[in-house]
Amino acid sequence: MSRTILVLPGDGIGPEIIAEAVKLIDALKSRHGLDVELDEATIGGAGYDAAGHPLPEETLTKARAADAVLLGAVGGPQYDALPRELRPERGLLGIRKELGLFANLRPALLYPELAEASTLKREVVEGLDIMIVRELTGGIYFGEPRGVRTREDGEREGFNTLVYREHEVERIARVAFETAMKRGKRLCSVDKANVLEVSELWREVVERVGRDYPGVELSHMYVDNAAMQLIRAPKQFDVMVTTNLFGDILSDAASMLTGSIGMLPSASLNADGQGMYEPIHGSAPDIAGQGMANSLATILSVSMLLRHSLREAALADRVDAAVGTVLRQGLRTADLARGGEAVVGTAAMGDAVVAAL
Ligand code: NAD
Ligand code: IPM
Ligand code: MN
Repeated sequence: MSRTILVLPGDGIGPEIIAEAVKLIDALKSRHGLDVELDEATIGGAGYDAAGHPLPEETLTKARAADAVLLGAVGGPQYDALPRELRPERGLLGIRKELGLFANLRPALLYPELAEASTLKREVVEGLDIMIVRELTGGIYFGEPRGVRTREDGEREGFNTLVYREHEVERIARVAFETAMKRGKRLCSVDKANVLEVSELWREVVERVGRDYPGVELSHMYVDNAAMQLIRAPKQFDVMVTTNLFGDILSDAASMLTGSIGMLPSASLNADGQGMYEPIHGSAPDIAGQGMANSLATILSVSMLLRHSLREAALADRVDAAVGTVLRQGLRTADLARGGEAVVGTAAMGDAVVAAL
């Protein structure tokens, strides 16, 4: 039985980078025996335009039935004035929640060829290999109550709730410890336990889960310090585990260690091992439609999809290696160029990866 990948291009540069990922998957099918069918649906602003909702019912139905989902990005200024529940970002949050994709793996890996592309010194980033494990279906993103209300004195106030239940912390901690077991066996849990009660509970539960993993060296760090340490000496980290919001912020920061936010893929997994794969960056409205976006984060998301959802580790290795090859050839999209290099566009980079497979 053939497996199905549901492709959700989304908005902005989403369709441009997804086109390169599809090109790659087609090449893996025709040249390397990958047995998979692609289906496509809308999400985000594209979903709103096509069906009046950022997460159309049909998209969700197809996603539930698929073996894996590959997503570009959502969002754009033309949708910013919509009511919050119709905004593109709600479509993304909705599909994460509906599929139960609580575990978000965001690897920040420096390709050696890009040591000079990072804005940090070569010696700070050379050899960098961090895995950020971000909780994805809880925390302040989803906590209730939330809203904007008018106080008795007539002034308005906005409010959100940061809440984590024990089982939510427990299951993300378990994923993080399991991940650490397969890597350098060091886990740093990032919180704000000096201020927040929810972090106190987080820390306690992570400690408890850690007793099942005596082989993993567990440490804790406050998020403000973690942000600083990521820039000061990022190689001290192996696996980091943190909440939805902290993980969102820290992974964007970590991406610059690898040269560009256009390099960071991600996998979002549920308890059944089903996954959605997407670059960590957004729809980049400032460069959309110009054919200059970096598609490597999306291509590396295909690699994660092959590895985690399709159990095609050899093909995933092949994709990772092809990315190394094109970088060694000196190909750079604009976000990776630091002066002097010839710059290639989105499609040329995708073609080069296919050629290097
Ligand atoms: P962004 O990640 O879209 O862009 C930030 C900066 O990085 C921009 O200058 C952009 O040009 C650059 N950039 C991002 N991806 C790139 C790539 N592949 N190649 C080259 N440069 C790239 O973040 P933003 O500007 O804060 O948000 C824009 C929109 O995207 C918003 O609507 C936001 O809500 C949405 N967003 C969506 C996702 C997602 O779909 N997963 C993630 C983040 C932001
Ligand atoms: C991401 C994005 C999303 C998030 C937004 C668009 C909802 O920033 O995937 O990192 O905050 O999770
Ligand atoms: Mn983000």
